[in-house]
Amino acid sequence: MDIVIAGGHGKIALRLSRLLAERGDTVRSLVRNPGHEADVRDAGAEPVLCDLEEAGAGEVAGHLRGADAVVFAAGAGPGSGAARKDTVDRGAAVLTADAAERAGVRGFVQISAMGAGEPPAGGRGEVWEAYIRAKGEAEDDLRRRGALDWLILRPGRLTDDPPTGRVTLAEPPIGYGAVTRDDVAAVIAALLDAGDVRRRTLDLLNGDTAIADAVAALRPAGR
Ligand SMILES: NC(=O)c1ccc[n+]([C@@H]2O[C@H](COP(=O)([O-])OP(=O)(O)OC[C@H]3O[C@@H](n4cnc5c(N)ncnc54)[C@H](OP(=O)(O)O)[C@@H]3O)[C@@H](O)[C@H]2O)c1
Repeated sequence: MDIVIAGGHGKIALRLSRLLAERGDTVRSLVRNPGHEADVRDAGAEPVLCDLEEAGAGEVAGHLRGADAVVFAAGAGPGSGAARKDTVDRGAAVLTADAAERAGVRGFVQISAMGAGEPPAGGRGEVWEAYIRAKGEAEDDLRRRGALDWLILRPGRLTDDPPTGRVTLAEPPIGYGAVTRDDVAAVIAALLDAGDVRRRTLDLLNGDTAIADAVAALRPAGR
């Protein structure tokens, strides 16, 4: 497969690049910082310089052309304020989806976050609320797009613990908890392979089910 990862120097993105490159897929990674190109190459991907808060949809579409699927793995990250939750977690996601449509790329995996789409729980501050709102609006935008075979993946709290290979992956609600970034990357790699799993919103936690079985259970009956 030919995959483009938006936000290609992210922690999940680099893990996903390695998995995809190891199985023989071609990976292009959109990064905004030239200092990140070497890490992206080390992970087996081809870096493409593109700041998703500056670029237009036409430029991004040019970077996506020919791909089978796009993975939106960018995020404003910890330490950013409410404004960048809007420009990255919502704005860059919408831009990337626009670009995918223009480029004729059908597959689109959006890394969202557990709790998106619900009113944010109180007491966690305005930046958290902006984050949950931005993720929810990016999801809503994607669900309206008829030309994309979208998948929305909502991991719980991310950790850098070693991979477990076992998850709970299902439409919400599945409860709350944590999931390793390695396991998130492995789930995305498996979902990219399961072309008949599409237009689903999926919560993801570490759990009891082997990743291949969790993805197989999402496939239309009889496959
Ligand atoms: N932390 C959690 O517990 C949690 C839970 C659920 C979901 N998530 C979501 O999971 C996703 C991936 O998480 P992660 O830990 O892998 O994220 P990460 O390591 O923070 O990576 C995010 C990437 O987005 C890139 N980015 C930011 N602004 C950009 C721009 N304008 N143009 C291009 N790239 C840009 C960053 O690049 P720079 O280094 O250049 O800024 C960074 O490489 C994020 O969307 C996050 O919100 C997180």
